[in-house]
Amino acid sequence: MNNNTRPESMQRITNFELANAFIEEQIKEIRAQVGEEKVLLALSGGVDSSVVAALLIKAIGKQLYCVHVNHGLMRKGESEQVIEVFGKELDANLIYIDATDRFLDLLAGVAEPESKRKIIGGEFIKVFDEEAGKLEGISFLAQGTIYPDILESVKQAEGKKAVKSHHNVGGLPEEMQFKLVEPIKLLFKDEVRVVGEALGLPHKMVYRQPFPGPGLGVRCLGAITRDRLHALREADAILREEFDNFGLAEKVWQYFVAIPDIKSVGVKDDSRYEGWPAVIRAVNTKDAMTATIEEIPYEVLHKVTARITGEVEGINRVLYDLTPKPTGTIEWE
Ligand code: XMP
Repeated sequence: MNNNTRPESMQRITNFELANAFIEEQIKEIRAQVGEEKVLLALSGGVDSSVVAALLIKAIGKQLYCVHVNHGLMRKGESEQVIEVFGKELDANLIYIDATDRFLDLLAGVAEPESKRKIIGGEFIKVFDEEAGKLEGISFLAQGTIYPDILESVKQAEGKKAVKSHHNVGGLPEEMQFKLVEPIKLLFKDEVRVVGEALGLPHKMVYRQPFPGPGLGVRCLGAITRDRLHALREADAILREEFDNFGLAEKVWQYFVAIPDIKSVGVKDDSRYEGWPAVIRAVNTKDAMTATIEEIPYEVLHKVTARITGEVEGINRVLYDLTPKPTGTIEWE
């Protein structure tokens, strides 16, 4: 057994009392590990990196430097939430980089999904590396590694073939010579969420549905254009809002909009109106290896359709993807 193995005796963190005990223990460990040194963290705003940030802020305050890279492929309001929670409420050292143009310029004309993933992942490391280089005296890199990541890398080391390269944006640049701080690496996702709430992070942030590292980049299908990306972001925000309104957000594991690079003929205000279709995907799964389709009431589908076609420029149809995994993957790319 090494320190990447969860001891059998480790109790599952299911309530605030256990979460607070974990937090206290981690604060001590982090302080002992880091001393007076500085720590860097790529803060995506996802559950894992947010919980690590909040833990480290509690343990070492301004010795932590959080870098949030907005690659222009975030969902509506996400970067703003990171700035609000970490920059303002928790008063962290937050370095916010709006790299939208860099990413979108590089991605222009690139339609092949794995090429898009490679460009987004590679550019992320470059931008992060540049920012890290501007900071002096950083010795540690904090990461939001969780236990399923460790189990997954064991599987990969055993040579299991992946369908897609799921390497996360925010992954460690291998040549970076930092010591690692990974305070939640023995926790499962449900435990991370309990710890996050015990740390006082907003419920919405802690219960955020999984979001792929390449973000909306793999949902704006084919070659990304700014107008279609904008339409996607707005349509996705409407879907999420209505799932919240109808109480579906906590019943469905992952739900989002994807927009293919095709147009169909429609009609609006008595005129021909060519537009993209918005595809709704809403799935439930235990481990993301297989997925089932959630039955969304027609009332919700009608409301979402009316709002998306009425409010989002460029979309004239809404489709509902009924395909389980397999044969569809959860994402379309
Ligand atoms: P698929 O599409 O393979 O997705 O059925 C399974 C889960 O993985 C997420 N996903 C990704 N996550 N980087 C990520 O960090 C990626 O490139 C990526 N592609 C898919 C997907 O959202 C789903 O939760």
